[in-house]
Amino acid sequence: MEKHHIEVMLDEASIDARIRELGEEISRDYAGKTVYLVCILKGSVYFTCELAKRITVPVAMDFMQCSSYGAATKSSGVVKLSKDLDLPITDRDVIIIEDIIDSGRTLNHLKKLLSQRNPASLKICTLLDKPERRVTDVKVDYVGFQIEDKFVVGYGLDYDQQYRNLPYIGVVEFD
Ligand code: IMP
Ligand code: MG
Repeated sequence: MEKHHIEVMLDEASIDARIRELGEEISRDYAGKTVYLVCILKGSVYFTCELAKRITVPVAMDFMQCSSYGAATKSSGVVKLSKDLDLPITDRDVIIIEDIIDSGRTLNHLKKLLSQRNPASLKICTLLDKPERRVTDVKVDYVGFQIEDKFVVGYGLDYDQQYRNLPYIGVVEFD
């Protein structure tokens, strides 16, 4: 691992406040329904749990895992599904929960895959969005924060599997 340090970009209190707002918005939008959160492992685990706690309509959850990144900080461009959902999502009101949208390849792929399973509705919620890096068009329904094109860690996001547990979002600065 190259020599680097982490600089705080979004502190814990700001993230917490924003997740609270997203939870309120989702609760309003899904009034009278059960929202089915699809957490994309591993990065979205922290965000999904915090968000779920702020949603006041009934919540169900399932998990899937895919990757477009290797050990490095650049996308390989190939999306690989390594764990599928446990249960069908037919007639469910599904929200895909992501940690970050970068090129958009992962979500573009996942959205196509899940929409073929006939959910009642399908939306996307991401904690972070790096719009400058988009190579494929994806409609994102809920965004926590738009950020600059920097490689970030924390709140589930990793650099070579490290730093997921940081309670804030930090930028990896190479020394
Ligand atoms: P996309 O397919 O290029 O949109 O990539 C999405 C995935 O790339 C995310 O779920 C992350 O796992 C990873 N990723 C993208 N940007 C970052 C970053 O700044 N830090 C850590 N992981 C990232
Ligand atoms: Mg990820």
